[in-house]
Amino acid sequence: MNPISAPYPSARFRRLRRTGALRAMVRETRLAVSDLIWPLFVTDVAGADAPIPSMPGVSRLTVDGALRAAEQAMTLGIPAICLFPYTDPALKTVTCEDAWNPENLSNRAIRAIKARIPEIAVMTDVALDPYNANGHDGLVRDGVILNDETVGALVRMALAQAEAGADILGPSDMMDGRIGAMRTALEGAGHKDVAILSYAAKYASAFYGPFRDAVGASGALKGDKKTYQMDPANRHEALRIVARDLAEGADMVMIKPGMPYLDICREVKDAFGAPTFAYQVSGEYAMLKGAVLNGWVKEDVILESLLAFRRAGCDGILTYFAPDVARILADKQA
Ligand code: PBG
Repeated sequence: MNPISAPYPSARFRRLRRTGALRAMVRETRLAVSDLIWPLFVTDVAGADAPIPSMPGVSRLTVDGALRAAEQAMTLGIPAICLFPYTDPALKTVTCEDAWNPENLSNRAIRAIKARIPEIAVMTDVALDPYNANGHDGLVRDGVILNDETVGALVRMALAQAEAGADILGPSDMMDGRIGAMRTALEGAGHKDVAILSYAAKYASAFYGPFRDAVGASGALKGDKKTYQMDPANRHEALRIVARDLAEGADMVMIKPGMPYLDICREVKDAFGAPTFAYQVSGEYAMLKGAVLNGWVKEDVILESLLAFRRAGCDGILTYFAPDVARILADKQA
């Protein structure tokens, strides 16, 4: 790009900001409800379908509640939901076998939603943390997170989710080699149309705190996730992982968290042109929502924060604000 501009006063940038009509004409990016993926927390533990204190406005839902949310998503025009299970602590083991149980909570929820509302895209989380007595995304032996053994477990988990009817698998575990292994297994099992949205550039972040409360992993987690999630200081590594995951058969890639990593979003989109998503994670939600609820900032920060992802090159955003945003966007049009 070679921006040419006459010197002042021939050029006055304020000319095109003078009215709403002029501003709309030259607006470069837009946020639409079709850009949103709505993450939902599901539980079948009695009494756990309750508000999550560190995520004001977000509750864990029963499977029935998730069905109603999926219907609401359809009505609002949100094209996809993403399911995260709050597992009964009694089902958490060090071998994580509930993760690939065809009748586990997540798989039952997928079936229920796809049976009632086949049009909605259902995305899943592929990682062992909701099922792991250690709270880690991978299998642990002697304090070490095992890569290759975990990939085997994730493949079984992915196949069970595909079997249940998931449209999009979201491997969020950050093990090496899992995308290729999953893609091969999906092809082999006849699930050739199941998409993979790889959490490719997933950083070891303190912004995941409220999520770990929501899925009941906070208490279980021993240590941190720095041996598998990325160092927040790195950018070349993000590009190399995205390249690797695309080469292994990922259809879409994700950057996570979102707002502190907008530079990575832009670089990934520019470098690969693949469908690129950002996850505006639980801690980002909590900060924005908390400030809005306290009256410290206006609700407008929500749209502004999401537009930033579009400006940075993202095709879409996973956000807990999805239903709020859908309503705000609809009101604007009315
Ligand atoms: C777990 C997973 C996490 C999130 C999505 N999947 C947490 C983690 O890695 O500890 C975080 C999402 C959020 O914070 O909103 N594999």
